[in-house]
Amino acid sequence: TRLVATTVLLCMLLDPVILQTLGHQDLTTVEGFPSLNMKFDSRRMELSWDCKENTTYLECVMIHKEKGPIEIMLKENECHCKFPDYSLHEGVTFMVKVNSIQRPIPETLVYTNSGGKGTAAQNFSCFIYNANFMNCTWAKGQAAPDDVQYFLYIRDLKYRRERECPHYLEDSGTHVGCHLEDLSGLAYYNYFLVNGTSQRTGIQFFDSILYWKKIEIYSPPNNISVHCNVSHCLIQWEKPVTRHTLSNREFKYQLDIQRLIEVSGNWENKYNFPSPEPRAKHTVKIRTSDARIQRWGSWSQPVEFGSDDPEASLVHIYMLVVLGTLVSALIIGCLLKRFLASRRLFPRIPHVKDKWNDNHPSDHQVIWEKFASDPQKADNEEIVTVEEVTAVTAAPASV
Ligand SMILES: *[C@@H]1O[C@H](CO)[C@@H](O)[C@H](O)[C@H]1NC(C)=O
Ligand SMILES: *[C@@H]1O[C@H](CO)[C@@H](O)[C@H](O)[C@H]1NC(C)=O
Ligand SMILES: *[C@@H]1O[C@H](CO)[C@@H](O)[C@H](O)[C@H]1NC(C)=O
Ligand SMILES: *[C@@H]1O[C@H](CO)[C@@H](O)[C@H](O)[C@H]1NC(C)=O
Ligand SMILES: *[C@@H]1O[C@H](CO)[C@@H](O)[C@H](O)[C@H]1NC(C)=O
Ligand SMILES: *[C@@H]1O[C@H](CO)[C@@H](O)[C@H](O)[C@H]1NC(C)=O
Repeated sequence: TRLVATTVLLCMLLDPVILQTLGHQDLTTVEGFPSLNMKFDSRRMELSWDCKENTTYLECVMIHKEKGPIEIMLKENECHCKFPDYSLHEGVTFMVKVNSIQRPIPETLVYTNSGGKGTAAQNFSCFIYNANFMNCTWAKGQAAPDDVQYFLYIRDLKYRRERECPHYLEDSGTHVGCHLEDLSGLAYYNYFLVNGTSQRTGIQFFDSILYWKKIEIYSPPNNISVHCNVSHCLIQWEKPVTRHTLSNREFKYQLDIQRLIEVSGNWENKYNFPSPEPRAKHTVKIRTSDARIQRWGSWSQPVEFGSDDPEASLVHIYMLVVLGTLVSALIIGCLLKRFLASRRLFPRIPHVKDKWNDNHPSDHQVIWEKFASDPQKADNEEIVTVEEVTAVTAAPASV
């Protein structure tokens, strides 16, 4: 009997009418072969078909390109099934497994993304900012004609309420983004659909299900304060306001205090670090990210701490510079004076030095000692001075 059944199934599969029917959205009833007449409601993710007498439906299957086959077991006499929410833009195939007394029904329904390949919106993304508005952006499909127009629909998956984008961002007339101020109607999970129109060709849709928590960009923390004692500074802050209440542990922070410091959120948001006095003026700015998914928000306003009087330290530096310059000038002045004096006393000194260098070309210490021990020569101070001035005034001396 199994052989007979297989043969019958094979004959049915080879029947050109059935072959044609397979893989098409609009299934027609084939003569002598009752069609299930499957229908798919994409809004409700619900597949339904005509109930037949003496037929038990076992399960329905959705074959999803990314998620693989998703099987739903059916209760007795059920002729419909509801699938979890998944994106549909890559197309899905549905099957119903049947236990019929008469014969099996090999039937599939293919839900396609009709329209030209590459016409769908691409690089779609949405982010929530400041816990109160959302920006979505996308780009025109590579193969989309110039007259393409896109539309964004957002559906919350809890109540299935759908609304169109209230404020599109445009690029030469084409919608390429959406700004949404009122987030009240949105749930944790939301379905985003970008479909389109064109006079020239069918435009494919793009759809995506986005989890609220994954698209929120956190604001910088609130109430940043710094308290310092003699040796340490303590920076404290409050977690930012977010769309949904989150525990402290779900955040992490970066503190920029001349260098970058990363801190996990804990029950009290603070960072204590050694910073001995006198303490120069510092600034700290902080930004926030989800603890697990790295996604930094913007920096806070910088908060200053340390010396209240930064000009005082600047004046101090200026004073040092001026003083240094004065001292240097004085020393050079003295040296010059001495040099001029020594030139008058010992006009041939450079020659004396050359002579000694010729005898001991590499050892200054020896020169020094020989001079120092020579009673005929001038005292140590004179020689050092001459050597130095020779170096400084080498050019003028040779003129
Ligand atoms: C269903 O099965 C019953 C009993 O096996 C039979 O009498 C009836 O004709 C069948 N109905 C159909 C539509 O095949
Ligand atoms: C879309 O994103 C891809 C990958 O990030 C990038 O290479 C491409 O240029 C983007 N396309 C447009 C139109 O922005
Ligand atoms: C969001 O979109 C609005 C409207 O175009 C724009 O002014 C704003 O700068 C955008 N904000 C961010 C953070 O992208
Ligand atoms: C786009 O999708 C929305 C929501 O499902 C629908 O109302 C609208 O007719 C669609 N537009 C096009 C051009 O397919
Ligand atoms: C900042 O702190 C003050 C006093 O502790 C408090 O009243 C205020 O609500 C805080 N602000 C925010 C935004 O948390
Ligand atoms: C300054 O603060 C640090 C850390 O909080 C603490 O260990 C230290 O004892 C404090 N020093 C003084 C003088 O209070």
